[in-house]
Amino acid sequence: MRYTKLPNTDLEVSEICLGTMTFGNQNTEAEAHLQMDYAFERGINFFDTAEMYPIGGNEHIFGSTERHIGSWFKKSGKRDQVVLATKIAGPNRGMGYIRQPLDFSKKSIHEAVDLSLKNLQTDYIDLYQMHWPERVMNMFGKRGVTETDNQWQDNIAEVLTTYDGLIKEGKIKHIGVSNENPWGVMKFLSESEKHGLPRIATIQNPYSLLNRLFEVGLSEICMRENVGLMAYSPLGFGFLTGKYLEGTPANSRMGTFPNFIRYTNENCYKVTRLYQELAHSLGLTLTEMALAFVHHQKFVTSTIIGATNLDQLEENINAFDVRLTDDVLKQIERIQETIPNPAP
Ligand SMILES: NC(=O)c1ccc[n+]([C@@H]2O[C@H](COP(=O)([O-])OP(=O)(O)OC[C@H]3O[C@@H](n4cnc5c(N)ncnc54)[C@H](OP(=O)(O)O)[C@@H]3O)[C@@H](O)[C@H]2O)c1
Repeated sequence: MRYTKLPNTDLEVSEICLGTMTFGNQNTEAEAHLQMDYAFERGINFFDTAEMYPIGGNEHIFGSTERHIGSWFKKSGKRDQVVLATKIAGPNRGMGYIRQPLDFSKKSIHEAVDLSLKNLQTDYIDLYQMHWPERVMNMFGKRGVTETDNQWQDNIAEVLTTYDGLIKEGKIKHIGVSNENPWGVMKFLSESEKHGLPRIATIQNPYSLLNRLFEVGLSEICMRENVGLMAYSPLGFGFLTGKYLEGTPANSRMGTFPNFIRYTNENCYKVTRLYQELAHSLGLTLTEMALAFVHHQKFVTSTIIGATNLDQLEENINAFDVRLTDDVLKQIERIQETIPNPAP
């Protein structure tokens, strides 16, 4: 396992981050514990979660992912050996069961942090992220934004002031954004600088062979401003394993959550076939090539992998030993040029 510094922090994190959003729905508590045991044994010291997880969540299972991580910390005694990232949910009409209103007011942030600390059975969070922005913008598969007429008032300095207080209290150590765009990242950075407030260390956004939109604007910001990308959905929800090319397996994410779809348009199928042919011609699986492509990028600090069983987890961790040559990267570029970013 290779480790790197989380930008502008003293935290050494593994280049693989364990995604946990299947824990508590697709995976039981016992399965979640086995995944964390295995990931930790393989050298992963960075876990990502969120107050709203698991996916496919509802008011009955909301918070169970964090609770399963909390019970693992208690059982294993390994809290201090893990860099723990979680997130506060932003506004979402369907998630009123989390709290009302779902916003980043001081009251909401304090409530969210306290509940996460309780669920996670810890007294500090290493990286506290805003899961998605409060304002209306393009995220979760939306292509672009042509209007900014929502009710959002710029409260970024106020939000950073709340985090400053929580950092001073010791409840959180560092902060990050997620599902952000270039305007948002630059605004967070400039407000920190202007008011002497905490600076975001990371951005957590989608990045994979099916969605390289991060390279338009955000990658330069990350490299010049020293903000780390935690790349999520590196396999495009599993699409880049190739397993959907011959139909949707019943016990897969798309079989289980048919409405939770971001990577299944016609062009995703077409280009995934081309990537699969290339991977096979190199003696690699598509999974290996797709994960190697993500972690090859300079602006990626850690790649967040997800799995629903230990075989997948093992295959995905092993894929980080694969190195892609310049010639292979050129071949990937040629395919990308034929169908760029089919998944928004
Ligand atoms: N910030 C955000 O908004 C956001 C959004 C999404 C994810 N995330 C974070 O990123 C993590 C990873 O995201 P993701 O789960 O979407 O990543 P992903 O790698 O794109 O998809 C993972 C899913 O693909 C399938 N899979 C993985 N490895 C496989 C293999 N070797 N063979 C066959 N199927 C395989 C599994 O689902 P099935 O077995 O069910 O098919 C698994 O749950 C999450 O846990 C979460 O921590 C954050």
